[in-house]
Amino acid sequence: MRPSPNTTTGTSRRNFLRQVGVTGGAGAMLATMGALGLAPTAEAASREPAFRAPRTGDFTLKGRTAAKVVIVGGGIAGLTTAYELGKAGYDCTVLEARDRTGGRNFTVRGGDSTTDLLGNRQTARFTDGQYMNAGPARIPQWMITMDYCRELGVPVEVFTNSNASAYIYNEKAGMTSPVRYRTAKADTYGYVSELLAKATGRGALDAELTADDQQRLLEFLKSFGDIGSKLTYTGTEHRGYSIDPAAAGTPGVELGDVPTVSEVLSSGVGRYFSFEFGYDQAMLMFQPVGGMDRIPAALTRAVGPGRIRTGAVVQKITDKAHGVSVTYEQHGRTRVIDADYCVAALPPHILAKTAHNLGSAVQTALEAVKPSSAGKIALEYRSRWWESDHRIYGGITETDMDLSHIWYPSYGFHGRRGTLIGYYNTGANADMYGNMTPAEREKRAVAQGEKIHGAKYRTELASSFSHHWRQTPHLEGAWHSMAGGPDAPVFAPLNRAAGRVYFAGDYLSYADAWQHGAFTSARKVVTTLHERVLT
Ligand code: ALA
Repeated sequence: MRPSPNTTTGTSRRNFLRQVGVTGGAGAMLATMGALGLAPTAEAASREPAFRAPRTGDFTLKGRTAAKVVIVGGGIAGLTTAYELGKAGYDCTVLEARDRTGGRNFTVRGGDSTTDLLGNRQTARFTDGQYMNAGPARIPQWMITMDYCRELGVPVEVFTNSNASAYIYNEKAGMTSPVRYRTAKADTYGYVSELLAKATGRGALDAELTADDQQRLLEFLKSFGDIGSKLTYTGTEHRGYSIDPAAAGTPGVELGDVPTVSEVLSSGVGRYFSFEFGYDQAMLMFQPVGGMDRIPAALTRAVGPGRIRTGAVVQKITDKAHGVSVTYEQHGRTRVIDADYCVAALPPHILAKTAHNLGSAVQTALEAVKPSSAGKIALEYRSRWWESDHRIYGGITETDMDLSHIWYPSYGFHGRRGTLIGYYNTGANADMYGNMTPAEREKRAVAQGEKIHGAKYRTELASSFSHHWRQTPHLEGAWHSMAGGPDAPVFAPLNRAAGRVYFAGDYLSYADAWQHGAFTSARKVVTTLHERVLT
């Protein structure tokens, strides 16, 4: 599964599904544990690959002892490695280059400061309770991120990923005003239904469908497109109302100005509809209450802050015959930590720039992972005008402008203030904004958003904060591009240990750009490392 903030591809999903069940090195471990009567629960077994956390009892049974492990990188993969190994008493130390754990799971609140690689320093001026999830911000129900939230006691709430009341605005396609999702869908589904009904009526599907099935198809189209017994789309209440239905005497007025089929097709509104069909983007989705960083905060507590060294920038990883040595700089001093094993859970493109003796095949693989760009701007407003004036409670407005997406907050409904994501863009658009000053980014984002939402988009603005992953020290990327996926032969050296060094991260999964990828990759490493220590 490749990251897809605004598009999904059936190919990647099929690929993902094909691979589920063949990845993961847990098989031998599970067989061993099953023989010992320690098989995973039925609930855990329903997911593939199943995971069984190491336990202290494993050593008693095997006559072995837990090892010392140094973990480079305190993002989700690194913290999870320490957390799971810690359950069996492994002596873990996490080295994190930034001054906070979480990696790309980064929630910005009032008072937080960042300095990017271009020297832009920002301090968030958000008021109490307002925040921006600069990285991950939504969780599908099926991902194991939800299991970690449950296990760690992180409360979750619904994240609105699609909203019939949000807008679509394709300026480049010639739209002169935004259209609500529900209206765009009604028009598109209406005309597509009419066209398919006509094709059926003219016998174009005679070779494909029996007469009975054609009749069933027409019944479906009548309801799907609301095209009536005449099988013609003339507009419908699905589009919405200019005056909403209310008490007796006020039946409501349906939206007029039904566009022609040509206008609907040329507006390009239909390009966004399949987004919510994506296995990774379908409603319901969830978010931790109070900010996504509640997850790394809980992991950090569970690992034990004493095991985590922040501001620790790794200089060199040396695999030795009987152990591993990691050299790092912390507060201007060079330090060395020795351990039995190392788990490299830092971004692969950062590791590629770090000294190591792990061999040329590892280096080639690391260099073949290409970091991708993404950026967001948070706009805090003095009022929640999108709720009061536009009746939009969460969800996403889609555009073909360079801001790409506008997200309405899925928290704090009816509160006094609120914070939008004024752009969430990727690739060249993210790079373009990332190369501007924060003030220029705000100016451009507001000028575009104003075209959709009107004057309050400017007049109610209180403050902004923007974040770009390619320009973020020690991370330098939002997610990854890997030709052929994580199981391509070039990446094989990263999917096994290089001596006593293991690799973990979302990039080594079929859920790149998702915490699920980091969690599952960490679990895979934990399983194989534990298995090695036990034998
Ligand atoms: N997982 C990222 C998102 O949902 C790419 O936007």
